[in-house]
Amino acid sequence: MRKAEPFKIKMVESINLIPREEREKALVRAGYNVFSLRAEEIYIDLLTDSGTGAMSDRQWAGMMMGDETYAGSRSFFKLEQSAKDIFGYKYIVPAHQGRGAEQVLFPTLVKKGQDVLGNMHFDTTMAHIELSGGRAVNLVHERAYDTQTPHSFKGDVDLEKLEGYIKERGVENIAFMIITITCNSAGGQPVSMANIKATSEICKKYGIKVFLDAARYAENAYFIKTREAGYHDKPIREIVREMFSYAEGFTMSAKKDGLVNIGGLIGIKDDEDIYLACRSMVVPFEGFPTYGGLSGRDLEALAVGLKEGVEESYLEYRIGQVAYLGQRLIEGGVPIQTPTGGHAVFVDAKKMLPHIPYHQFPAAALANALYLEAGVRGVEIGSFLLGRDAETGQQLESPMELLRLTIPRRVYTDRHMDYIADALIAINKRADAIKGVEVVYEPKVLRHFTAKLKPAE
Ligand code: F0G
Repeated sequence: MRKAEPFKIKMVESINLIPREEREKALVRAGYNVFSLRAEEIYIDLLTDSGTGAMSDRQWAGMMMGDETYAGSRSFFKLEQSAKDIFGYKYIVPAHQGRGAEQVLFPTLVKKGQDVLGNMHFDTTMAHIELSGGRAVNLVHERAYDTQTPHSFKGDVDLEKLEGYIKERGVENIAFMIITITCNSAGGQPVSMANIKATSEICKKYGIKVFLDAARYAENAYFIKTREAGYHDKPIREIVREMFSYAEGFTMSAKKDGLVNIGGLIGIKDDEDIYLACRSMVVPFEGFPTYGGLSGRDLEALAVGLKEGVEESYLEYRIGQVAYLGQRLIEGGVPIQTPTGGHAVFVDAKKMLPHIPYHQFPAAALANALYLEAGVRGVEIGSFLLGRDAETGQQLESPMELLRLTIPRRVYTDRHMDYIADALIAINKRADAIKGVEVVYEPKVLRHFTAKLKPAE
């Protein structure tokens, strides 16, 4: 039997569903791009699970104890201890969020023209690889792209591709490998322990360092516990230790499994040179190495959040809620990436709206339909996000057209999940009536945040 939430609610925040006519006006004002909606126009916000979670009473109590000492803050040493206990690494450097950590670590590892290998890089990770003079290469297993055939570990690296690529490209042209756990871009899909281990062994053979993009590491550990043979009886903390033992270091957006609204970390297992390079780079970018762009109270909240994020009762609730929403959608005939992953349900808009071509962005059209129907905001992960070929200006076709329904942590209840599912099931019944969208205005970089669209003719 699925247990109820392992918490009760001490403080609430009102949300309000504005009438349909007002939602229509809001969407027109937003240029048919849900990124431009305002908070008060949204009833349930599934744009991201990043920094949108609810902190616990213990975290809030920690905020009051935050030590704002510029150098040598007490709160830093608490955070450092908490992180060392969980990851078993020697060196911990805080950053203001995940991309802050990337900006500090990557230039210390990449030489111009080198490749950075990964299962599937997140956008900011890719951007920081490129800003460091490198090139991001995705080597996720093909099955990640087939939403309708379930597999326990769709985030796995394709080991044959990996070794083939290293041999073909030459080790001197490879800066490092970074495994994203869970793999956000493939649908919050986990990477198995066996795959992390095998990837690390292949890389070791060629002298390539392995790092983890650990934003959702605790969710990945929970999937290993529940889906991988030999791990059912192991405590989450033990699984986490094993995962991290196969890497040399990690970057982390603590806004996800760290259960804080802002924060990031770099962890280095034992390589003093990399640590010293990070420690000196963090100063100009993020701040003194004992605060890294965060206030003392943020450090304190993260010290507590890291521990709560690996509690089994919490993870069971968390993954269970995402799976519940997924199950309701499957039962209602809505095609989704299966099985559900860690932080979101990904609706397969290409399957749901086969009459809309990629250049009319089916998942963006679906995001708009869902907002109009129910005041729920999801986010397009498809051709609209992917953008244009830098040389030809041609719209690129994404292998998947997904609407991500990202679930914030400890924020919404199962009733909210039911409401979201009912809305999507209703839309699915009249899916042929949904029209695509076309671009009216777009900026040159990261257009999806600010582009204006209109319904296609
Ligand atoms: N790595 C992964 C796998 C992420 O999902 C994110 C952020 C980052 C790095 C960057 O971290 O935002 O703290 O700077 N993902 C958010 C999302 C924004 O909505 O998926 P950040």
